[in-house]
Amino acid sequence: MATPLPNHPQLRGNYAPIHFEAECTDLIVEGDLPADLEGSLYRVGPNPKFVPDQGYHWFFGAGMVHAFHFGGGRVNYLNRWARTPKFEAEETAGKPLPMSFITDPDTGAIQSDRRNGLANTHIIWHGNQLLALEEGSHPFSMAPDTLASAGYGHYGADLQDAMTAHPKIDPLTGDLHGFGYMSGAIGSKTMTYHVIGADGVVKRSERFEAPYAAMVHDFAVTRDYVLFPVFPLTFDLDRMSKIGSPFAFDGGAGAFIGVLERDAPVSEVRWIEAPVCFVFHYLNAWNEGQQVTFDAIDFAVAPNFPDPNGNLPGHAEAQGRLTRWLVNVGTGQIDREPLVDVAAEFPRIDDRFAMGRHRHGFLATASQRQRGDGGVFHEITHIDLDSGQQQVWDAGFGSGVSEPVFVERSKKADEGAGWLLATVYEPERHTSSLVVLDAMAVADGPVATVRLDHRVPYGFHGSWRPAG
Ligand SMILES: [Fe+2]
Repeated sequence: MATPLPNHPQLRGNYAPIHFEAECTDLIVEGDLPADLEGSLYRVGPNPKFVPDQGYHWFFGAGMVHAFHFGGGRVNYLNRWARTPKFEAEETAGKPLPMSFITDPDTGAIQSDRRNGLANTHIIWHGNQLLALEEGSHPFSMAPDTLASAGYGHYGADLQDAMTAHPKIDPLTGDLHGFGYMSGAIGSKTMTYHVIGADGVVKRSERFEAPYAAMVHDFAVTRDYVLFPVFPLTFDLDRMSKIGSPFAFDGGAGAFIGVLERDAPVSEVRWIEAPVCFVFHYLNAWNEGQQVTFDAIDFAVAPNFPDPNGNLPGHAEAQGRLTRWLVNVGTGQIDREPLVDVAAEFPRIDDRFAMGRHRHGFLATASQRQRGDGGVFHEITHIDLDSGQQQVWDAGFGSGVSEPVFVERSKKADEGAGWLLATVYEPERHTSSLVVLDAMAVADGPVATVRLDHRVPYGFHGSWRPAG
């Protein structure tokens, strides 16, 4: 039996899960829906059906996918849980179940079950598969139209170890580049580099050693290099009994960037020292010779995680800022320049320009960020990185915007010529809408607002899949 939610900040307001799966056809649209928007927007986030009384964390709720299908001037919607084995076992048991682990009978090493995860972090289209991703597991397949769960395992045994929720798709080759961390055993410093072809066939899945075991959420790929930045959100199982978390931000461990030439064997990964800070997400990266540039959301420390003594970060330390990193992978020289001086997260670009020099970035921002506001973002910001000019649409303090997903007007349109799609939670309506913004005229506000009668709970990431 499902029971009332525990009293927890990440289960209140629009962090609270919804308890149904629905289909809505021909949603009400205010404004003018662009005629060139034909395809599907997918979004995913934690939406637990069963919640433990103690110890809930937003990152560990079962994934629910929301799909908005655009076509023929209409928008249809549906939402479905990702029916992972863990989710189905919880439904059968009628109660929350712990993560499942596999113990190596020879070594005693404990590894998470790569095919029993949460599928709650990102959802992408690659290799003719709609893939719900979560960094502790393999990709989880779902049907693109109905969101019926197809399950894990379509890569067979070729994909060893988990895969990040932030793989990068090369727009020139269609190859997907990804990685896993803590490969082989919980707490190991082994990482795995994956490359999967446009046809969905695994080309590489190779292990290498990082300086230490840490949570690594995202990475950076340019035309010539793969970069694995490792910041000291380190893992030590012994911390569980002392501070209640195996992960802690341990600045004393230093920070490092693993550098690999794209086609080189993983034995050639070189580690260069980096400034101690924390990054969840990268906007994009490119290189000119050995000079790599990437834009990242920098935090002073890892937000929402304790230090090794169990102290949580202060309010100011827990705000991210868009920052340009200039990394010479030959000399190891690293310089950083602030780009946007407000709290920001969920950076996205026009993905056709991934791995090359990008001009336009799109972010969720919170210029009115206040202590106790739940870390919600109320604005969508466009930054033109050539001119430095910014445009902001403010949904209103108290509202919550999602990551903005870019959709180009046409395959050959200039970089940035297109639309931004984001969900917006409005507390006075207690519902969410999907807004469509002109990516080059963000300050003008939505050109179209698609209304739902219910909330889309705060989630993580999403993607557009064009029709046809
Ligand atoms: Fe993420």
